[in-house]
Amino acid sequence: MIGQSQTTDANTIVVEDLDTICSNMGDQLNKLAGKRLLLTGGAGFLGYYLVQSLLRWNESRAADARVDVVVYDNFIRGVPEWLSAIDDPSLTVTTHDICDPLPATSGDFHYIIHAASIASPIYYRKNPIATMDANVNGLRHLLDYAVESQASESPVEGFLFFSTSEIYGDPQPEFIPTPETYRGNVSCTGPRACYDESKRYGETLCVNFAQQYELPIRIARPFNNYGPGLKITDRRALPDFARDVFDGRDIVLLSDGAPTRTFCYITDAITGYLKTLLLGRDGEAYNIGMDQPEISIAELADRTVLVAKELFDYQGQVVKKESSDAEYLTDNPNRRCPVIDKARTELGYQPNVGIEQGLRRSMVWYSANRDAQDA
Ligand SMILES: NC(=O)c1ccc[n+]([C@@H]2O[C@H](COP(=O)([O-])OP(=O)(O)OC[C@H]3O[C@@H](n4cnc5c(N)ncnc54)[C@H](O)[C@@H]3O)[C@@H](O)[C@H]2O)c1
Repeated sequence: MIGQSQTTDANTIVVEDLDTICSNMGDQLNKLAGKRLLLTGGAGFLGYYLVQSLLRWNESRAADARVDVVVYDNFIRGVPEWLSAIDDPSLTVTTHDICDPLPATSGDFHYIIHAASIASPIYYRKNPIATMDANVNGLRHLLDYAVESQASESPVEGFLFFSTSEIYGDPQPEFIPTPETYRGNVSCTGPRACYDESKRYGETLCVNFAQQYELPIRIARPFNNYGPGLKITDRRALPDFARDVFDGRDIVLLSDGAPTRTFCYITDAITGYLKTLLLGRDGEAYNIGMDQPEISIAELADRTVLVAKELFDYQGQVVKKESSDAEYLTDNPNRRCPVIDKARTELGYQPNVGIEQGLRRSMVWYSANRDAQDA
């Protein structure tokens, strides 16, 4: 488990993280014993820990008390090595585009987690229609399945939709930190709208299906997760910085670095998502993230330099450049910081991995996973 000890190697970090997630969840994972869980988009960043933490939990369970995990992914950005390497009878991986009807042979699912959607701005802007389809049409297939399952012997017992903090758009200053009740300040036609608006409509679908059919559907709104599993080629801030570090060049900021974020380490995030799935109220959305410190992207870059200097004798510094992509910063929110009281109170969610520790763990992991290729 994550302790006070300094980080060692990448594999140890991942195993410690998986044990931390299992320990954070305690008995709450028992609801999954003997059940079948469908995870769409399981080959992605969050899938890396969702899949592996459930399989890790299985290791301490009798054969009939394990959870069977079924991953559907269209592998739009390739099949990750970590997933191909897993040889476990509790895991089934199927190539399937969630925008197509579910395979007839899919069998029954007691739990569904819909995480299939490109999450990186650079990539969803290259694939806007596919992004909208996964969050609307793909979600609809799963919701229809949940409705039909009610008349079967294996009704869906829990359903989690991955929304995003981007549904808040660029909040006015008085709505920072941002509670779930804030309605958002979002463009419906800008370059990021394919993502933000399809997540918003996805939430509307979830709430109405939960109400009309009395389904156990819950929604998570993730706030900037980071950590092992987020590919170095993903073009989100920390992987970009890590790539600069391991390519031996200065860390390049493609903005003035002023926008602020809070960053939630992956163990805290995954704990929050599993709690939302298993303990959340039906038809409710929960902010899942870290509420402090809110730091600028420039400060994240500075902190990355310090960690890299200490761990790898990195000699670079932070430099600013303009992106060649004219739309790179359009509709980029100025501040992002959640109120997480609802998750704390209702789910017992208590994120506690600080940015310093999380950065160290991430950079050690990137040092061993710096050669990832993207499809
Ligand atoms: N990671 C974060 O900080 C964050 C923040 C906000 C929201 N989210 C949401 O959480 C979910 C998972 O995020 P992530 O960071 O793991 O994303 P990711 O981009 O790393 O992974 C997404 C996965 O979904 C798959 N996919 C995409 N379209 C698909 C389709 N039509 N059918 C089947 N599979 C498809 C991709 O192949 C990929 O494996 C997404 O819904 C994302 O919007 C994540």
